[in-house]
Amino acid sequence: MRRALLPIACLCAAFFAASVSTAAAENNGVALTPPMGWNDWYSVYCGVNAQLVEQTAEEMVADGMKAAGYDYVNIDDCWMASTRDASGNLVADPTRFPDGIKPVADYVHSLGLKLGIYEDAGTTTCAHYPGSFEHEAQDAATFAAWGVDFVKYDRCNIPYGDFPGESEEQVQQTLYTRMSNALKATGRPIVFSMCNPDPGDDPWQYGPSIANLWRTATDIQDNFGSMLANFEGTVDHYTDAGPGAWNDPDLLQIGNGGSSLLDYTTEFSLWAELSAPLIASTNIAALTHSELAIYENPNVIAVDQDPLGRPSVAISRANGLWVLTKQLSGGGRAVLLFNATNTAATISTTAAAAGLPTSRVYQMQNLWTNAVTQTGGAITAFVPGHGVAMFTVTTLGKRHARKLPSHTVLSLDAASPQVGVGGSTTVSESFTNVGVSDVKKLRLSLAARPGWQVKPLGRAGTRLLGAGQRFTVVYRVTAPRSGPPLAFSIFKGGASYDPLDGRRTSSATLGELVSSPVHAPLSITDVTTHRAAFGASGRSLAISARGLGVFNPPFGALPTDSYAAIFEHAACRRSCTAQVTVTSDPAGGTSGGAGLIERDDMTAGKHSRAGVVLFVNSNATIVMAWNGSGGADVDQHVAVPSITVKAPVGLRLVRRDSTYAGYYSIDHGKTWNPVGTVTVAASASRGRLDVGVFHASGLPTWTTTATFKNFRVR
Ligand code: GLA
Repeated sequence: MRRALLPIACLCAAFFAASVSTAAAENNGVALTPPMGWNDWYSVYCGVNAQLVEQTAEEMVADGMKAAGYDYVNIDDCWMASTRDASGNLVADPTRFPDGIKPVADYVHSLGLKLGIYEDAGTTTCAHYPGSFEHEAQDAATFAAWGVDFVKYDRCNIPYGDFPGESEEQVQQTLYTRMSNALKATGRPIVFSMCNPDPGDDPWQYGPSIANLWRTATDIQDNFGSMLANFEGTVDHYTDAGPGAWNDPDLLQIGNGGSSLLDYTTEFSLWAELSAPLIASTNIAALTHSELAIYENPNVIAVDQDPLGRPSVAISRANGLWVLTKQLSGGGRAVLLFNATNTAATISTTAAAAGLPTSRVYQMQNLWTNAVTQTGGAITAFVPGHGVAMFTVTTLGKRHARKLPSHTVLSLDAASPQVGVGGSTTVSESFTNVGVSDVKKLRLSLAARPGWQVKPLGRAGTRLLGAGQRFTVVYRVTAPRSGPPLAFSIFKGGASYDPLDGRRTSSATLGELVSSPVHAPLSITDVTTHRAAFGASGRSLAISARGLGVFNPPFGALPTDSYAAIFEHAACRRSCTAQVTVTSDPAGGTSGGAGLIERDDMTAGKHSRAGVVLFVNSNATIVMAWNGSGGADVDQHVAVPSITVKAPVGLRLVRRDSTYAGYYSIDHGKTWNPVGTVTVAASASRGRLDVGVFHASGLPTWTTTATFKNFRVR
């Protein structure tokens, strides 16, 4: 089954890099490469104090972060006393910073590091400490006198009413310019970091001429969906950034415990491609070896800190498979293949598409494994879901090429990404040699979990695989006869081969979704834009889906009615009780989640009136949302304040005509706490209703799987 490798389509964006123009950058002489450092916010929020800052600085020296380039030690909100002194000067909170800020700055400086601080353009900060509004020059002078090297400047509580006729954005521009000028007037080189990332703000439009950084996306959370959203909100602003002026997709979350090492590796790689500030917002002292190794990867840091200061350009992104290329000062490119989906996939581009000059052969250095290989032009890798493959690619002379092994890719591809229990499909395992020299004695293998049958349909090896050739084996795979509602099963492919100078191995894994079918009286519906998967086993249910949800989130602008559900048609007469336990809910965004749903026509989505939902929201609270107006959408909601729930969560929805009472239980049904009692518009709660469980991942480009047990309607 050997065949020649098809030429990979050359992307037409080949010459984009040459045409990128960098906007006028802030000329205060600092942040010529993106700032690197630490910020306390996501490790302690308002718990900052002098000891934490000084100990973190010591830790950054001791654990190698300083040597790796991290030099800013930044204090976020809550460092201040609640009022200014009699002369209107800012003062530090006497308990948190008993000797004030200056001695902390002096200590941080004595370690060869720099100190950052936080303020706000409004009358108070986001946490309600004194803001710099109409104190800009005074506060800038205070910061300079203390020895501050970095000011993060927020946008909470701005008195917009004082600026009649001006848009919020115009007012922000005025106030940010004031502080920018005030900092310059102090004569101290201070990084000025704008923090005004609300939806509708476009700070990249005016930021480059007055600031070193501007936020491009809302406050990040420690999950893949949030990281992806902040990346997506930043990547297309590459022309706005350059030396002295950078897009800021927010603080790095690596180490905060909410994501996998794979996701953290991706976050770091993406931020480096974006030329984003690398500011760790975590407890530095508690980082594991592996987390520290991400922060200190010199190859990836070098991409971020490349003196040319050109953020990468996305040359393709179809179906969540991204190719980014970043021009480097030495003439090479940092190419990132990023798989934003949940399923492993081959991602490919070419050296020409990545902007490299024509050459017979190129060198690829894998920035995470350090492997160095040669390629005839194809830049390709089999990338796990959520993962990246990151390379620096340079042209290579023929003589040097002989000393390097060919770049090879082992990939797996299932004919169908989902099978029912007992069902079968085929998996192709391919080994591709994109280098300019032969690979010898190739052997392939495929392993599956117990209970699966795996049968190769052809030879599983070849003596010789020439340059540019691919070898494929197809296997018939058959799933076990029974299982949970939805289960990911893993296939592990292995290759053993000799590229040049001895045996090597490589491996690849692919997930296959195995579902147990949903039977009557339950039905399924999918009103998202991406195919959902469903499974049922007794009263345990599972839904794997995208979709923005049913709940109309606070900003109001996102579409609703985008979810997948398993439901019982017309199960609720005028009164009924629906109940379920949500056993996992990995949703993201602001509107994702999993829970109960009742509406007149579950399958019609937008084309029917929404009814009521009670669900575990992506930010781990319980939300009840309903159609109060009788319009098309859910337009009212209540959330249980100040709880953070972790699955399993019991949800109960009791209907009496158009009145609904919602309850939740976090002690396995022993106690049921009220969420709210609400009245749904009569037109959205007529007669019999469909009742079910629903899931929405909360982001249009992200699929997650929610699981449920004990679903019943009485
Ligand atoms: C805003 C900012 C955060 C953080 C907090 C502090 O939400 O976006 O980065 O500084 O304020 O209150």
